[in-house]
Amino acid sequence: MGVEQNGKTVVLKHDSGASVEVYLFGATVTSWKVDGEEKFFLSSKSSLDSSKPIRGGIPIVFPIFGAPPSSPPEYAALKQHGFARTADWSVDKVIMDRPEGVSVRFVAPPPPSEFKHSYKLAFVVTLAAHQLSTDLHIINEGKEEFQFQALLHNYLAVPDAKKLSVEGIDKGTRYKDKTQNFKELIWPGEPLTITQETDAVFQKLETQELKLDYGNGKGLNVRFRGFEDCTIWNPQEKGKTMADMEDGGWERYICIEPGFVREFKYLQPGEEFLGQQVLTIF
Ligand code: BG6
Repeated sequence: MGVEQNGKTVVLKHDSGASVEVYLFGATVTSWKVDGEEKFFLSSKSSLDSSKPIRGGIPIVFPIFGAPPSSPPEYAALKQHGFARTADWSVDKVIMDRPEGVSVRFVAPPPPSEFKHSYKLAFVVTLAAHQLSTDLHIINEGKEEFQFQALLHNYLAVPDAKKLSVEGIDKGTRYKDKTQNFKELIWPGEPLTITQETDAVFQKLETQELKLDYGNGKGLNVRFRGFEDCTIWNPQEKGKTMADMEDGGWERYICIEPGFVREFKYLQPGEEFLGQQVLTIF
């Protein structure tokens, strides 16, 4: 058990032998090991020197998801997926270090100058024997409302992307297919499999729990709350166009990304948004 900080990273260790590694850069979880098995994908070509977002683990997306929008106009100058994933976070405190779980709260630095709103952003990572919980807290500390999108960009490691299935997307769920120019479609209710490039934003899921089956009887459940949408992304061969993607990496992960991204969420002065996810191994 315990929490160790080694310069750029913080490692949480649980009695069971499970461990989690978090880079302060972006408060990016880069590793979760259970029974010696790594549960996250991290590209071997990812930069880990704070020069670019980390390609793997759980990058935090805030305050915009995807390419900068034209409205509100002041958000047009932001970078793809916002700035939380490239901010230098710090450890606020160790919340718990007990057999039930090891929990650390990270806080983001003050907003960058290009973002004119005042907020507090905290990320709580809690490790238990077969479970990892991550909670994103966003508090409006300003005098005016502001709008944001937020998402946890999980790169979940899989033995073979062509064999996995994602179960639990409710029949009738609306989704935007980014591979078809954001065409709005209705999910038929069957399990999702990867046979081609997949980039879909599922909107307002009724059941906020998805089951990732690796195809070998193992996998994990992704449960979320506060976050109402979920993006599922695997680029297949298009991954070759990404400089920091290792060769064939797209066959070794699927991104299942709970978030609030179908529209902007408005936060009133003093109001707090809490987006939570729990990953449980089965
Ligand atoms: C996903 C998006 O969430 O992130 C994809 O739906 C995008 O469209 C992917 O390509 C990776 O984004 P980035 O900025 O990390 O390369």
